Amino acid sequence: MNIKVLFVTAALFATAIVSTAQDNTSALIPMPNHIVKSNKGEVFTLNTRTSIKTNLPDSAFVISELKRIIARHMQLSPQIDNSARKNIIEIIKDSCIKEEEHYTLSVDKKGIHIKANSEGTIFLALQTLDQILTGDIHNTALHKVEHVFIDDKPRYAHRAIMIDPARHFLPVSDVKFFIDQMARFKFNKLQIHLTDDQGWRIEIKSHPKLTEIGASRVPNGSNQGPDNGYYTQEQMREIIEYADKRNVEIIPEIDIPGHSVAILAAYPHLGCEFRHNETKNLGKTTNMMLCAACDEVYSVYDDIIREIATLFPSEYIHLGGDEAAIKENWAKCDKCHNMMERNGYTSPSQLMIPFFNNILSSVRTNGKKAILWCELDNIWPPANEYLFPYPEDVTLVTWRNALTPKCIELTRKHKHQLLMAPGEHTYLDYPQYPGDLPEFNNWGMPVTTLEQAYRLDPGYGLPKEEQSHINGVMATLWAEAIKDINRLTYMTYPRAMAIAEAGWSQMEQRDWENFRLRLFPCIYELIKSGVSVRVPFEIVENRH
Ligand code: ACM
Ligand code: ZN
Repeated sequence: MNIKVLFVTAALFATAIVSTAQDNTSALIPMPNHIVKSNKGEVFTLNTRTSIKTNLPDSAFVISELKRIIARHMQLSPQIDNSARKNIIEIIKDSCIKEEEHYTLSVDKKGIHIKANSEGTIFLALQTLDQILTGDIHNTALHKVEHVFIDDKPRYAHRAIMIDPARHFLPVSDVKFFIDQMARFKFNKLQIHLTDDQGWRIEIKSHPKLTEIGASRVPNGSNQGPDNGYYTQEQMREIIEYADKRNVEIIPEIDIPGHSVAILAAYPHLGCEFRHNETKNLGKTTNMMLCAACDEVYSVYDDIIREIATLFPSEYIHLGGDEAAIKENWAKCDKCHNMMERNGYTSPSQLMIPFFNNILSSVRTNGKKAILWCELDNIWPPANEYLFPYPEDVTLVTWRNALTPKCIELTRKHKHQLLMAPGEHTYLDYPQYPGDLPEFNNWGMPVTTLEQAYRLDPGYGLPKEEQSHINGVMATLWAEAIKDINRLTYMTYPRAMAIAEAGWSQMEQRDWENFRLRLFPCIYELIKSGVSVRVPFEIVENRH
């Protein structure tokens, strides 16, 4: 080999190492907000004498999670020994750490130490540990963990994904599988869109027809199968408990006054009178609505909200408020017109105000807060600097493409809390790449690439004081075209990893080029767990 060939070969080899080098940060998603790495390459080595030390009173779940992680990466099975002083994995509940979801994780010569003030946050720290072991593939294979200190807490308290079993039902086991994956990336809220034109998916004991009729796309059909079904309250409690252990809170969404064919199929007299006898065709998005002037709407929803508030521990109930077909319903209804006259209104959209005032009084009586999709100047009465149609205690979600800057500004001026689900970045039902599986494309929607999802800064680059009312982010997976769990996770990953980082990591920690590299070990971990994901081949440089 002449010297030139040797040089070129060495350079190529070095490049290969640089581009494939893996260390303890190579699989961290979302990126922690403070990391001090050891610059001496010191390591803690686990062996068969390594033990677990904990002061947690009820530690069974997090300890089993820790054991699962250690067994999977290192085939070791450490046991609890609270008298051990070194060679330990320490899980400490530390009430000196005051903030929710704030944890520290350090690795030193004595062992691995995790501190947080709740089991939920310890679970988060364990996900970081899992990713450290995934990333540092060579050390992990030798049962070594490099010294490191991580002091981490999220940018936002609310980091959500929304799933839509109203459109295509997901059995309990699939919802749990979905929770397992989202929890890896520190998402902490799962909003479940439980009612829509295609189905009513939650048992309401005071109004059984909601599920007897509204949970089945085929009239009088069976409640089995992918498009039909509902969660009994018992099953939902099981999901809530499963999620809670994994630091995920379930937020119910009951969409009103539009998106309501399922309830109208069961109780047609809750719609505007002129539409009572129309066929209610479950399975398609149509333009029917609850009647604003029907007293029974408010008494039925009072019952529904009471049951929902009792069932779900979350402080929030999402009540939709989006895409109400006012022209096709309230504008043509005599009773709605009378109600407008009584209130001195000139536009039927103004009926949204008494409609939601009635419903929100049930929400407040039951000690909960409402979230609504933010509509500007279209369905609700006009919004501007002086007028805003939403009651002040409602948290809003921005979602419509291009309206987010206006929504951020108006919610700040009118003192609302805001969640960020801008369609351009977080609508994961949009295709991920031109031509990618066109059957998933609902309505010829724009493409939201992985990079576009990653480009979300939930603060939209605004000065701190102009974004302080923003509480978090939400990825949405509307499921008209998502028929089962495999398609659901395919649409979710890898883009949800980008949204997870937008929700957790401060902008200083975020970097697209670096994220691209961290992504692949995480994708590989999902694949190894049997999760259907899309391989983002387009972001691999020099692909031939
Ligand atoms: C929505 O996408 N209809 C909130
Ligand atoms: Zn009406």
